[in-house]
Amino acid sequence: MTAPAVLVVLPVPEASLARLREQCDVTCLSPGNDRAGFESAVMDADGLLLTSNTRLDGELLRRARKLRAVSTVSVGLDHIDLEAARERGIAVTTTPVLSDAVADLVLGLMIMLTRRLPEAARAVTSGRWSEMGLANDLGGKALLLVGFGRIGQEVARRSLACKMRVSYWDRRDDLPRIDGVERELDFEEGLREADFISLHVDLNSSTLHLIGSKELELMKPTAYLVNTARGAVIDQGALRQALAEGQIAGAGLDVLDEEPPLPSEPLLREPRAIVLPHVGSATVETRAAMLELGIDNLLRCLRGDPGLHAVVDPR
Ligand code: DGY
Repeated sequence: MTAPAVLVVLPVPEASLARLREQCDVTCLSPGNDRAGFESAVMDADGLLLTSNTRLDGELLRRARKLRAVSTVSVGLDHIDLEAARERGIAVTTTPVLSDAVADLVLGLMIMLTRRLPEAARAVTSGRWSEMGLANDLGGKALLLVGFGRIGQEVARRSLACKMRVSYWDRRDDLPRIDGVERELDFEEGLREADFISLHVDLNSSTLHLIGSKELELMKPTAYLVNTARGAVIDQGALRQALAEGQIAGAGLDVLDEEPPLPSEPLLREPRAIVLPHVGSATVETRAAMLELGIDNLLRCLRGDPGLHAVVDPR
């Protein structure tokens, strides 16, 4: 039997590649701009190992007649046309082992915002050591988690430890209970009452621009918005305006609707915004765990076994 052909579209250390090479015929492509080269290589692949930086649209999936398995080293899936994968019987798996890293980042952003840390650091570097005004505590503040999956739950645990009042809003019913965390049934009421709102939903047609000008208007002028999910969950134009007009106190953004943003993106110069380059899962430990799980998933699916965390399982 010939070894399955696998196309790897992310940097993978040699030791991990060796594990794939034991069972597969591996081709590595750098996740650069050569879209045509990538598409042509996909035509020969039985399996793909990639990240959310590589888009797999329906047209490409329908043309890739050999393709049986896609393992994305990410938890987000908005880069893959899942409907087309289902139609074609292609297995799709994710690597949801990044919750602690993302939750740590959310805490970091909330602390940076409420303690005005970027401003405090700038005061020091610009020789204004004694000029920094007072900031605010996290303790006692109300946090609304929009989405209560794995990451939202980890943010809840950390925020309770910081003595915050934590609630969540989620459309799903089958969610675990965490002592001290209330369920908010009325989304708009939750937005009105929160001091911090943190987004933890997938990007899909029901969450695109979930936070727009109407939702931003409901927020308190002292409230902060944190987004470590996907940029397009927020209407970025509406957010720019809300920040510029002081309608909300600030935003911590690890994701934008275009990544990397154009240098002219106004949010990059907005003093009320902290913008990070999509580093939610970017720790050595978390990325290594995601990669190993991604490789396991690909090997399992190519063998015809169930992939762990399969989102599409055609078996
Ligand atoms: C994920 O895993 O979806 C992270 O956002 C990185 O893309």
